[in-house]
Amino acid sequence: MTPEMREYLDAPHDRIGTNCEKWDGLERLYGRSDLIALWVADMDFRTVPQVREALVRRAEHAIYGYTDDGERARAAEAGWLKRRHGLDVDPDWILYSPGVVDSLYFCVGALTGPGDGIVVQPPVYGPFYNAVRLYDRALVRSPLIREDGEWRMDFDDLEAKFAAGAKMMILCSPHNPVGRVWTRAELQRLVDLVNRYGVALVSDEIHADFALDGRKQTRILALDGAERAVMLTSATKSFNLAGLRQSSIIVKDAAIRKTLKNAVERVHAASPNIFGGIAQTTAYQYGDEWMDAVVEYVTENRDFAVEFIRREIPEILCRPQEGTYLMWMDFRGLGMNQADAIAMLVNRAHVALNDGLFFGEEGRGWFRMNLATQRDNVARGLENIRDAIRSR
Ligand SMILES: Cc1ncc(COP(=O)(O)O)c(C=O)c1O
Repeated sequence: MTPEMREYLDAPHDRIGTNCEKWDGLERLYGRSDLIALWVADMDFRTVPQVREALVRRAEHAIYGYTDDGERARAAEAGWLKRRHGLDVDPDWILYSPGVVDSLYFCVGALTGPGDGIVVQPPVYGPFYNAVRLYDRALVRSPLIREDGEWRMDFDDLEAKFAAGAKMMILCSPHNPVGRVWTRAELQRLVDLVNRYGVALVSDEIHADFALDGRKQTRILALDGAERAVMLTSATKSFNLAGLRQSSIIVKDAAIRKTLKNAVERVHAASPNIFGGIAQTTAYQYGDEWMDAVVEYVTENRDFAVEFIRREIPEILCRPQEGTYLMWMDFRGLGMNQADAIAMLVNRAHVALNDGLFFGEEGRGWFRMNLATQRDNVARGLENIRDAIRSR
């Protein structure tokens, strides 16, 4: 990255008082505000400079009536997917949705019925469970397995669950929180399996731009036989725009697309936010250099964190994640229960991490740290954790 870009990302920015959940929400969620916020998945980096300029330009117009920017946003997204991921997407396959979690709900509601089994792979992003529970579907858990410390899908278990009648699987790709970038071979095996059993596949790819160490996350629609898969994407995670609420549901199969389009329209959520559309379009058009720099910055933070933990806090285990800017940390070696570990982190280390239980029971004893922040925050957070553990 250029020195200018490093300076841009490195500059500390006080987010307090900006209605920001990550920092302003600390008091409400963690009981005190004097914490280093290393939790929810948004970044402390300013977005692509051209996005800011485009939003300011539009804001200055001072008339914010109904918007009709969907076409440009879709074309820009298709361009990004082709350029960055080698994926051919017809802009007509893209449906607008306010958020990826909203899209998960639309998929569950429209493509399954009450009581249907939906497979998720714990530990996994909490709202996957909500999507199943809120729609009165049956949660079918196929936990990830660890072989030699490496996280893998349990294909035998998946097949058993599909054979037993599950109707849908929600995939997280790359996987939040374990940080796997699933390989093409793994994903092809999964697609072959869902096809064999007629299971609907919904792939949440919100973290796909964060494949580290030169990896590329194979996009689900790039696989043989994946025409019926539903791919959920968003510029909001990639470019730090989550407050603008804009995302996409991408479906090649015309019948499934129509079903999902109806589901979005039924709750009247198909009209984009004026600023969301502008931000998405501009980010996908001009965001390449910024994105490369952020991935590099996050990778450096990850390497720093892994090295620090190995050297200074060997009781905590972690592996360098392959994707996402989130690090999944195993605190079980400390022998503390979850409540005591949280109390130590909050009241003694003064850091806010994500409680592993947000990702399901498999997350007990684990915590997730957000590395998309200035290096100084990562360093101070880890030093505080080390000192709190030392003085237990
Ligand atoms: C896997 C995953 N899906 C979805 C979301 C949220 O998406 P949205 O804000 O578009 O609802 C997140 C945010 O952290 C996430 O990690």
